Amino acid sequence: MTTAPPTLRITRLGGRIGAVVEGVRLGGELAPSIVAEIRAAALAHKVIFFRDQEHLDEERHEAFGRLLGPLFAHPTVPAADGRYAFPVDSEHGDRANRWHTDVTFVPDYPAFSILRAITIPPYGGNTVWANTATAYALLPEPLRALADGLRAIHTNEFDYAAVRPEADAAQLARFREVFAAVRFRTEHPVVRVHPETGERSLVLGNFVQRFAGIRARDSQLLFELFQGHIERPENTVRWQWRAGDVAMWDNRATQHYAVDDSDGHHRSLRRITVAGEVPVAPDGGESRLLEPAAMPGR
Ligand SMILES: [Fe+2]
Repeated sequence: MTTAPPTLRITRLGGRIGAVVEGVRLGGELAPSIVAEIRAAALAHKVIFFRDQEHLDEERHEAFGRLLGPLFAHPTVPAADGRYAFPVDSEHGDRANRWHTDVTFVPDYPAFSILRAITIPPYGGNTVWANTATAYALLPEPLRALADGLRAIHTNEFDYAAVRPEADAAQLARFREVFAAVRFRTEHPVVRVHPETGERSLVLGNFVQRFAGIRARDSQLLFELFQGHIERPENTVRWQWRAGDVAMWDNRATQHYAVDDSDGHHRSLRRITVAGEVPVAPDGGESRLLEPAAMPGR
């Protein structure tokens, strides 16, 4: 059996996370060998960036996503266009300037997120990604052992007004009536074993409410302890967007943060997510949905 030589050019951006991928025009008709290279690059570098993909529209963006697996529809926010495109738009008050992994308030949160830039402000509005696998691997051994045994409860019903005190009434209403229309609570292991790479990574971020069986004050201290290792600058990469850029990340091994520093300038992107697996802890325990009783629409 022979292996085809790689056709993509991959340039690393940081020591722990991030690479630029050149030599591919994204869409739904890529050869399986190219898709395999893209997938391998995303698994290795955690987030990969493609410039100059202006030819993508909603349909082609979705078609590219489908090459990586079945698509995942957001459980509460309606699609911007087509069936799956999640809108990220500053005019809706969408400013994800909180460290998070996408949709961790459900058990089988997305495996990959693929974000396409449409309108980018003249300055600011960068996104930062962090590697949650290196954050775990570089912990001292006693802290890895502590994390291995913890479980945390994630919910979409966080205190939006406390996180965004400057939000206006329309933005608060949109959060309550759309994003948090159905309350989800899911218990995840704090450490999951990646189904493709076997790496362990930390499962935390903004949707965490508390740790299972641990009171609020101790939960907060534990959260800050582990989350702080994820957010360290050495563990991150920062991307300065241009219109037509695409970022694709392994949502099972990263968190990200959208820097809210472009003043009132418009910023609009579209996100497609690829279905993920229910996380499995090092001891084999799985994540479980606490609320509602079953995933709606499944
Ligand atoms: Fe996000």
